[in-house]
Amino acid sequence: MTDSPVPEGTYVTIDLAALPHDFLWGTATSAYQIEGAVAEDGRSPSIWDTFSHTPGRTAGGDHGDVACDHYHRWREDIALMRRLGVNAYRLSIAWPRVVPGGDGPVNAKGLAFYDELIDGLLEAGITPSVTLYHWDLPQALQDRGGWPERDTAHAFARYASVVAERLGDRVTHWATLNEPLCSAWIGHLEGKMAPGLTDLTAAVRASYHLLLGHGLASRAVRAAAPGAQIGIVNNLSTIHPATDTPEDRAAARRMDGHTNRWWLDPVHGRGFPADMRELYGVDLPERPGDSAAIAAPLDWLGLNYYFPQTVADDPAGPAPYARAVRRDGVPRTGMDWEVDASGIESLLLRLTDDYGARRLYVTENGSAYPDVVRPDGTVDDPERQEYLLSHLAACASAARKGAPLAGYFAWSLLDNFEWAYGYEKRFGLVHVDYETQRRTIKGAGYRYAEVVRAHRGRAREAA
Ligand code: FCB
Repeated sequence: MTDSPVPEGTYVTIDLAALPHDFLWGTATSAYQIEGAVAEDGRSPSIWDTFSHTPGRTAGGDHGDVACDHYHRWREDIALMRRLGVNAYRLSIAWPRVVPGGDGPVNAKGLAFYDELIDGLLEAGITPSVTLYHWDLPQALQDRGGWPERDTAHAFARYASVVAERLGDRVTHWATLNEPLCSAWIGHLEGKMAPGLTDLTAAVRASYHLLLGHGLASRAVRAAAPGAQIGIVNNLSTIHPATDTPEDRAAARRMDGHTNRWWLDPVHGRGFPADMRELYGVDLPERPGDSAAIAAPLDWLGLNYYFPQTVADDPAGPAPYARAVRRDGVPRTGMDWEVDASGIESLLLRLTDDYGARRLYVTENGSAYPDVVRPDGTVDDPERQEYLLSHLAACASAARKGAPLAGYFAWSLLDNFEWAYGYEKRFGLVHVDYETQRRTIKGAGYRYAEVVRAHRGRAREAA
């Protein structure tokens, strides 16, 4: 990248030779966080429209009505990707655009939007990776009970089939769900995300139907688009006990069950972890054949990694009776999340060694800091650059040790609607001025471009 206003040079050495030549270097976004145009061309409200318009639910009452106006500016956003030099893009499809009722009639205009977007990406030489569900459940389905109800899983599979039939001739990378943990635990147990419930039974039932929906949808996508490469995206964490006492170690084990094993074991045919079933004490809405459906074959696993967790025993607290402990003297991002690049390496290796992953993608990784555009029009973000480069170095190290890592998607292409945190938290490689919708590539964006270019140079030499 020749127009980089940031001096060249890296903070850490990334073992680029450990990454395959056809590595996907991408950025990621999700529909509700960037698209805006919530009432255009037949889109219906999602649970996030409802949640964000409910007083007190999001910081500053922020909502996704306009967001980054990507619905109208997607061509400009593809041009930004070209400037970054990336060869992949992870996007999500808004279910309420495609099937506004959640189930039933298809909205041609909704599908047409994604159809054009995919063509635009392919013309730009960018491989699309499509996520079918990034939290924006049609409100119409929530009104009928949402994920705690089995019908939602079936409706999801039907919607997935519609999308795959339309895009499957050009899209090969498919993810069913993004971070079902957030939908189930944060949305139904902690109440901090849509639909905003605090009900353990609803949360456990939601988790079950999300994973059932994943299995049914992957079957539907394969039927509609032979050759589809299907995965699921989980946000996993490394979990550390606050002390070496048996109580804290048991708490860490429970938090690992809640955060990691509950989501990984069932899709790998191991069923829902017995210790956690007992801990939640909620009957799973199981029916014959479900386990096999949930364990549908996977072509790849997606890892979203942001931070490690340190926990202590908390018998009086909510499930899983483990309380987060704030460690002093460690670097933190603007989210107050601890920075620990070694976590991404150990999780990639865990997926490889314990779950036998055949292909892995880091589907999200990134950091928020309070960026400002300087008078000279640049955004300097040394902390984000360091976060990015150290995590890339850790990814390459995992690959060197045998993790079948095939791509990395930086979260995020753009600053965007950061859910309950609103617009204040900026994760973008590109700064967005929400008043003018002006986009400015940040220092980390230029850094990323340098890494991508360096890897490409190596690959070319080797060829
Ligand atoms: C993940 C979400 C993504 C974004 C990042 C910061 O949990 O998948 O949409 O909000 O966190």
